[in-house]
Order: sequence, then C-alpha cells, then structure tokens
Amino acid sequence: MTKPLNIGVIGCGFMGRTHSNAYNRVSNFFKTEYKPVLKAACARSADSVKAFAEQWGYESVETDWRKLIARDDIDAVDICTPNNLHKELAIACAEAGKMILCEKPLAMNVAEGEEMCAAVEKAGVVNTVWYNYRRVPAVTLAKQLIDEGKLGRIFHYRANFLQDWTIAEDLPQGGAALWRLDAAAAGSGVTGDLLAHCIDTAIWLNGGVTNVNAMTETFVKQRKHNLTGKVEPVGIDDACAFMCHFGNGSLGLFESTRYARGHKALYTFEINGEHASIKWDLHDLHRLEYFDHRDEGRLRAWRSIHVTDGDHPYMKNWWVPGLQIGYEHTFVHQVADFLAGLESGTPVSPTFREALETQKICDAVLSSAKSGQWTDVG
Ligand SMILES: NC(=O)c1ccc[n+]([C@@H]2O[C@H](COP(=O)([O-])OP(=O)(O)OC[C@H]3O[C@@H](n4cnc5c(N)ncnc54)[C@H](O)[C@@H]3O)[C@@H](O)[C@H]2O)c1
Repeated sequence: MTKPLNIGVIGCGFMGRTHSNAYNRVSNFFKTEYKPVLKAACARSADSVKAFAEQWGYESVETDWRKLIARDDIDAVDICTPNNLHKELAIACAEAGKMILCEKPLAMNVAEGEEMCAAVEKAGVVNTVWYNYRRVPAVTLAKQLIDEGKLGRIFHYRANFLQDWTIAEDLPQGGAALWRLDAAAAGSGVTGDLLAHCIDTAIWLNGGVTNVNAMTETFVKQRKHNLTGKVEPVGIDDACAFMCHFGNGSLGLFESTRYARGHKALYTFEINGEHASIKWDLHDLHRLEYFDHRDEGRLRAWRSIHVTDGDHPYMKNWWVPGLQIGYEHTFVHQVADFLAGLESGTPVSPTFREALETQKICDAVLSSAKSGQWTDVG
C-alpha cells in the first residue's frame, strides 16, 4: 500500500515547474512506497499561484510561505525561491518539523549554510539539495565507472558551464526574471549559479577539493535595477575561472561565464585517469564518451555510449533500450531517490551537510578571486 507524502512547494517559477512535473510523474515510473501528493503551492501573487496550481494539479494555494510551512497537512516543503530566501525558509521548515527539499545553491554563503545544517540536524528532519545533474544517467554511469576503478588514478578534472544571456549592456538587474544578476538576491553570479553544479558533480565523482586559485570578472559594471529604477553597481561575477587541487592529488580546472556567445547551457566535464578518460556534455546528455587505453591497440578509440540500456542507471524504469530521456527526468530521479531514502531510512544525497562542501568551495573561489591568492577550502 502506498503512503501519501504531502508536498508544499514555495516558488512557482522554473524550478517550481520541473519539481511539480517530477512529483506528478515519479510514481508512474518508479515503484515507491511513498507517493507525492501536490498539497499546496505558494507564491506572492494570488493570480499566478492559482494559475500554477491549476496547471500542475495542486489542491490549494498560499501567498504567504509562513502559512504553508505552518500547515499540519504538509509533510515536506520544497524551496524553489531565489537564493536569498533559502536560509530563512529552511530554518522555519526545520523548526516546524518538515522535511525539506531545497534548491541549490544551499545558501548565499557558508555562514548561512552552517546555520541551515545546524537547524535541520537539531530538528532531525530529512533534508536534501537539488543537485540534479548527479542523476543524469550518463553522469551516474560515470560515477559507477570511477568507483569501480576503471579510470585508475585520476590526474585531471575539467569542467565548463557556458551561457550567453547577459551580454547586452542594457539588460536590467533584479526583480522577478532577473534576480540572478542582483547580488542581494543571488549571493554571487556564475559561481553560485553555474559552477556550484560543476563543483557538486566534481566532488561527487572525484572527492574533495583542498585549495583553489580563482579569477572573476564583471564585464558590465552597472545596470538599471528593476526594483529601484536606479542605475546601480553590479555585484555579481559575470565570469569565473579557477584551478584547484583535489584531495586525491588530481588537478582541477573550472570555467563558467554568461558571456560565451553561442552557448546556452553548455555544461561539460572531462576526467583523465591512468587507464581511461571520460567526458560528458549536457547538450548531448544521454551519451557518455569513454576511452580505455587497455583496449586492443587496433581498436582503441573514444566510444560514445548511448546510455539508454536497461542496465544503465535509472533506465530500466523508462522506455525500451535505445530510447533516450532528457533534462526533466533528472528531477524525477531525484524525487525517486528521495522517496526510496524515506523508505529505507538512508538519507538521500546530497544532504544539506554534503551540499555545504560545495558552498565552501564557492566561498573559497570568490575569496581567492578577491585576494589573488591560493585559498584553502574551509
Ligand atoms: N537545480 C537546477 O538545475 C536549478 C536550475 C534553475 C534554478 N535553480 C535554483 O532554483 C531556485 C529558483 O530558481 P528559478 O530559476 O526557479 O527562479 P524563478 O525566478 O523562475 O522562480 C522563483 C520563484 O520564487 C518566487 N518567490 C520569490 N520570492 C518569494 C516569496 N517571498 N514567497 C514565495 N515565493 C517567492 C517567485 O515568485 C518565483 O515564482 C534558485 O535557488 C536557483 O538557484 C536550480
């Protein structure tokens, strides 16, 4: 018999949609003891939250997140708001004894993240952060291959996340659609928004980072603020590149920008080991490229693995071998793993505490870019 898990989502934008889709679909494709029930959606505008609730099938709406968190009929709260609200909402949820699924980055900075970890651990509530790229089947396959030792000793980890949507100098900052350009709402620019994904994947695949040396740039120095109407300094990093040492002795190179004309969401990584290398590209997310030096010389080449077979991670739950899935499925997988974690009593990864590691690296990167020095990760 399935048990209902009543979900309350706060924030009905891009992530509100991907998560709602995941809650709706998960039980069709994954056998889970718990079944999400879309109990309540919350956003500040009564009209837009009502329209959202109708579209995705929520039973009720709230316009004040405090009311949603206080409701007895909500088991788990899903935080899909801009970054500056994560801490306040998460702590309120913990104090109310709710399970929490919080969007990334965990917080605006490490100090906030520490408070959030302390709150959920004190309350003993189940918690997780939506670093969904771990759950692209090809990325999970990369994890399996590395853990099995197929790559041998790892020498290099390289990752990029490139976009091109903020190049126009007359693009304003702040407000509903453009909070990512406003440091007060986002905390940082590409570091917290995009590199946080690359870092989470990297530490999951290759272990912890010991120190970093970074540079950031803000190409457009001032923009009109949507909320004040005034031209104000831009406080976010438009671009960031850093090198680092991993604890296992390998070297890391990371780059992210919103100024790479022609690239919309080009997240790529490549890992070079003693025996083999792997690479992955979000634009072709169902493929994992693999090169194994131990193959017979005449046949040695990069293989492009179409990660769609029943023995590939997650894929037996979907269609038939050869038919691929996409971006939205990574969120379905995260919900499936969250529900399985509830059933088994094993916390689903990454927990707040695990996601704090990514936050520590982001803070070290921003601090190194300011000082121009190698910086240890907290
Ligand atoms: N996992 C990923 O791949 C991924 C992708 C995009 C965004 N994110 C993260 O998800 C979060 C939300 O990003 P988004 O792209 O969905 O943003 P968005 O702007 O599309 O949506 C944000 C929503 O929050 C609502 N909101 C703002 N203040 C609120 C308040 N006080 N009370 C209730 N609702 C409020 C807004 O009305 C809006 O509906 C951010 O933390 C972001 O970093 C993660």
